[in-house]
Amino acid sequence: MRLRRTYWCGDISLKNVGTNVVLAGWVQGRRDHGGLLFIDLRDRTGLIQLVFNYEHQEDLFRAAEKLRAEYVLAVSGAVIGRSPETINLKLATGEIEIRVDEIEVLNMAQVPPFYIEDAIDTDENLRLRYRYLDLRRPEMQEMLRLRHRLLMAARKCLDERGFWEIETPMLTRSTPEGARDYLVPSRISPGCFYALPQSPQLFKQLLMVAGAERYFQIARCFRDEDLRADRQPEFTQIDMELSFCVREDLIAEVEALLARIYREVLGRELHTPLPVISYAEAMERFGSDKPDTRFGMELQDISGIARECAFKVFNQAVSAGGAVKGINVKGCGYFSRKELDDLTALVQSWGTGGLAWMIVTEEGFKTPIAKFFTNAQLNSLRRYMAGEDGDLLLFIADAPDAAQKILGQLRLHLARKLDLIAEGEDHFLWVLDFPLFAFSPEENRYTSNHHPFTAPRDEDIPLLRTEPQKVRSLAYDLVCNGVEIAGGSIRIHGRDLQETIFRLLGLTQEELEEKFGFLLEAFKYGAPPHGGIAFGLDRLLMLMSKRKSIRDVIPFPKTAAGTCLLTGAPAPVSPHQLQELHIKNFGTQ
Ligand code: AMO
Ligand code: AMP
Repeated sequence: MRLRRTYWCGDISLKNVGTNVVLAGWVQGRRDHGGLLFIDLRDRTGLIQLVFNYEHQEDLFRAAEKLRAEYVLAVSGAVIGRSPETINLKLATGEIEIRVDEIEVLNMAQVPPFYIEDAIDTDENLRLRYRYLDLRRPEMQEMLRLRHRLLMAARKCLDERGFWEIETPMLTRSTPEGARDYLVPSRISPGCFYALPQSPQLFKQLLMVAGAERYFQIARCFRDEDLRADRQPEFTQIDMELSFCVREDLIAEVEALLARIYREVLGRELHTPLPVISYAEAMERFGSDKPDTRFGMELQDISGIARECAFKVFNQAVSAGGAVKGINVKGCGYFSRKELDDLTALVQSWGTGGLAWMIVTEEGFKTPIAKFFTNAQLNSLRRYMAGEDGDLLLFIADAPDAAQKILGQLRLHLARKLDLIAEGEDHFLWVLDFPLFAFSPEENRYTSNHHPFTAPRDEDIPLLRTEPQKVRSLAYDLVCNGVEIAGGSIRIHGRDLQETIFRLLGLTQEELEEKFGFLLEAFKYGAPPHGGIAFGLDRLLMLMSKRKSIRDVIPFPKTAAGTCLLTGAPAPVSPHQLQELHIKNFGTQ
């Protein structure tokens, strides 16, 4: 390489007119205007126009004619102002161009399989197969830049607030996050496996016992679970843990971090403290533990009226301990019978019996179930539901949890269908006081809602013996626009309480020793009160960059089938490798 870059393309403007510069990058495209030839040169900062004039520089012109898209160049030349009629305001560098005096072709390139530009309509698999070309596109470069900025802002902020960045092992034992593990066979210990960490949970707690007091890590986590638009098998957390803290301290730390990230990365102020809601209230009002609060359509409980009315579906549900919940779909009384039937089929596919509907009109209610209600009952219904002419009221009768959850799903479905969600402002909120346990009917036992190290609320500890399902935890989730961005908890730091919880989860003494003996042992040696949280960095980035897929914010993501189209992983290995690892080949080949 003879020519050495002196400027980035995107940094040149009118103020550089008259200077000589050396630029380096890729050929974006070439336009031939007879005796004038234009080439757009691209580096990661943007595009700049190079100009070649046949009359003045015949040799250079001929050389430039041979350049093709994605050739790699270094050029030297003078920055000149464009004449007014050729100014391109769409381009950041559109007021100037480079009159080239030397070209150095650093490499040639094959025709790429898709255009290197934004808004291409290309199959995602092709983009993933040629990810290094996909990443050349400006919107993907912007993603890389944003990801870097976010990481730097987080590191700086946490460092200033006294957190130490500490690495924890990748080759470790199974952790308690509850997904399936990725296992790594040991060559030296036949039949034994490491697990890749689902999170650094156990180590960060051990670091608190070790006196680190404030820890963070940009931690890679591995979970072998079914993939969705916001889930990858390998993802990144901003993981934190603090000693001598209560829940409010932790929330304040996280808000400070988030505010800093928003300010430094997006130049936006985040108004803290963020709103807080209890799990119970979130379920009652939104039918979700990660409510999207960008729109209303909140759930109402009409069980009182339902109990009194003559509609069997309603009154029987309530007498059986269930509930009737409703939403008001404002102004949607125009829905056709077909649309209402489709909504009914949808909620049935989610597992409830059906959907009752009423349309509020000037003359009263339009509904097939009018005859089961007295006028007084209908009037109360209208009041409860704030029903106005033209509104559509939808009701589900079921067990209280199911009615809430399914109506919550319907609320989201309708908001998307009716385009009620204003993109723009981000609606953050903390969800607190989750139940400590969930009951698993398949396993006939309690399971942890968060993980087994989460502390119960002090005042609920007596309930552990009598009604474990009612115990509320000191767990907290940070939710934004209906997505869980971060989750954490105040931990148990006493050995006795930790053992009680393990027992309630159905672990025998042996399992307990085998799985978590080292942690319980550590708790014998003076564990401080502590708590922590982990941000899903990729999800946070999706939110900040308004991308719909987690794959668009990860440099080298996996497909929904967990494969890497670029490298071909996962791939078969040789019989020799298997033999060394003491593994029989159960595969198909
Ligand atoms: P949790 O399991 O809630 O908590 O994970 C924390 C955050 O990580 C993100 N996340 C994911 N992102 C992408 N792909 C996935 N498959 C995936 N799974 C989770 C979510 C989630 O909020 N050890 C605890 C934290 C703690 O208690 O400190 C933990 O891992 O945004
Ligand atoms: P059925 O008695 O099953 O014919 O139902 C009468 C009406 O009640 C229909 O419009 C059903 O969609 C509705 N319905 C049935 N089950 C439920 C339910 N669990 N919640 C609300 N409405 C229901």
